[in-house]
Amino acid sequence: ARMSRIEQLLSQMTLTEKLGQLTMTASGYAVTGPIIVGDSTDSIKDGSVGNLLNMVGPGPTHEMQKIAVEQTRLGIPLLIGLDIIHGHRILFPLPIAEAASFDPRLWERTAREAAKEGAADGLAMTFAPMLDVSRDPRWGRTAEGGGEDGWLNSRIAEAKVRGFQGDDLSSKDALAACAKHFAAYGPVNAGREYAPVDISERTLREVHLPPFEAAVKAGVETIMPAFTDLNGIPMTAHVPLLRDYLRSELGFDGVLVSDYNAIGELIKHGVAADLVEAATLALKAGVDIDMMADAYRKGLPVALERGLVTMDEIDACVRRVLRLKEKLGLFDDPYRRGSTPEAPQALVDRRALAREVATRSVVMLKNEHDTLPLPASTQRIAVIGPLADAAYDMCGCWWAAGEHEPNTTVLAGLRAALPAAQIEHAAGVPILEDERSGIAAAAALVDNANAVVLCIGEGVRQSGEAASRAYPELAAHQRALAQAVFERASARGVPVIVVLFSGRPLVIPELDAKADAILAAWFLGTEAGHAIADLISGKASPSGRTPMTWPRALGQVPIFFGQRPSGRPMNADDFYTSKYLDVSNEPLYAFGHGLGYGRFAYSDLRVIPERVTENDTIRVTVDLVNEGKRAAEETVFLFMRDKIASVARPLLELRGFTKIALAARR
Ligand code: IFM
Repeated sequence: ARMSRIEQLLSQMTLTEKLGQLTMTASGYAVTGPIIVGDSTDSIKDGSVGNLLNMVGPGPTHEMQKIAVEQTRLGIPLLIGLDIIHGHRILFPLPIAEAASFDPRLWERTAREAAKEGAADGLAMTFAPMLDVSRDPRWGRTAEGGGEDGWLNSRIAEAKVRGFQGDDLSSKDALAACAKHFAAYGPVNAGREYAPVDISERTLREVHLPPFEAAVKAGVETIMPAFTDLNGIPMTAHVPLLRDYLRSELGFDGVLVSDYNAIGELIKHGVAADLVEAATLALKAGVDIDMMADAYRKGLPVALERGLVTMDEIDACVRRVLRLKEKLGLFDDPYRRGSTPEAPQALVDRRALAREVATRSVVMLKNEHDTLPLPASTQRIAVIGPLADAAYDMCGCWWAAGEHEPNTTVLAGLRAALPAAQIEHAAGVPILEDERSGIAAAAALVDNANAVVLCIGEGVRQSGEAASRAYPELAAHQRALAQAVFERASARGVPVIVVLFSGRPLVIPELDAKADAILAAWFLGTEAGHAIADLISGKASPSGRTPMTWPRALGQVPIFFGQRPSGRPMNADDFYTSKYLDVSNEPLYAFGHGLGYGRFAYSDLRVIPERVTENDTIRVTVDLVNEGKRAAEETVFLFMRDKIASVARPLLELRGFTKIALAARR
């Protein structure tokens, strides 16, 4: 029989060339770890680097590709990847924000559009989606994921993999997706980035693994092990999970790509003495590509000599990498991606999508006395706060190639949406620096206003990787500004609408007590200002629901809806119950909370049939009426509880959701 292209190549490859295919090096374009490498041209030429990250643009990617294809002995094309977390050039809302839209169609569309942009920039792979479940707002990477629930993150996984990879992986606008970070990176101890993780087998299986299983079932091509250790075994060397679970149990035969320098960090974890041992551990666990540690190139030749690893083990990894390149169509046409510039209309449509998804990602946490939408008669608006006109911060954390120039701010968005209103603005304080001299002048704007829009919260770098916070709350100087505004406004009867920016739920009991309305805007990307203005003006109704519980006190963390029951549930009449002495058990805002401009009434919940045995299907129906005065969208959630089981089961398990738009009844 004729040998396949891959076997033919493999039979000709030197050890250096094989290890080159297992190596991914940064070009220096974006910095995502401690090691920055500049020019890889020579290493590409001699076949010792076969994959690149952090390079972007048709010019540079094709230039490198040409060297690989034309100037190396075997002409194997490069695999070039970049993080595309929430949009590529045009930025969509952060993943935590987009999750709040509870709209799988939108999740898929934004990934599809980002893939088109990324592929047009010469990329063939992206390190996304992030599927780490987070129940701890101290953890900065909460921003990059879909919140606290494993089932929800599984639905996001499917949509994102479909979106990035499209129907045909070899087409010019498809990217290989990467489900990351496998697994259980979210429950780092005390929410501290890169800290160890200790969780039970049950929580691992029921909460943290399902999103990865969903991604594998959706056909994800690559998976990235987490930086962290799980119950003592670093994920980059985790044989039970990488080999036994992913490869054997789920049948995943795609590429495992390490995180940035993660193989080298096995030494710091204390499970390897040197790069030889580190490379051996990762290879034995089935990690195919070494990103940035240079452990495979330096360590595996020695490991081979010492008999620690076999050539067969190396070949198995090389085969998987070459197979991915083949599936991506890189052997047939390595320049396919990035050869045809997108039509100008594509960008117009993408911005419209960015506005739509941004509008639907905002969660209205509070709306006392129907403060929002602002009545059309509102003539004078004071837009106060350091995030009101902060174009750069609107991006949200971690965008590698995003363009922040066209970002719209709340101030610009409101001016565009309400041209007849008189809009005054003062930042009052900086976002980060504790500098309070502008507070009095900013608060004075309240005197001349019919409504205040107060834009406060985190700065763009306060969430994301390596951005854990022991105090996930408003900075003291921003609280001082809010206090001054609330005092002045309440004395004059002026409503205060807080637009809160953050990459995570914040602990905000004071805002909840004093604001008339609160919009959790997370970070919304390019169209942030227009989206927020659409909601404030009433052009659109808020429809986002929080995918993560907002604690009322930090001491409640981790707080999430899927807790198991206590044998002594909280009960006001007894002392010896599951409670705190100093704060209630209730969150400030529960998972799924989010208000809109409609008023929805549920009735007639039916479960058909009422009794079922093991493999039966049940249908659950409910009648929904919008009794409000405006058209709005409702997210209907289906939760279940297994009330009597052989082990304690969560009080609630999410098993379905659907969005329904309803006109006002009258
Ligand atoms: O994809 C990322 C990962 O999430 C964190 N470390 C760097 C990688 C590549 O940029």
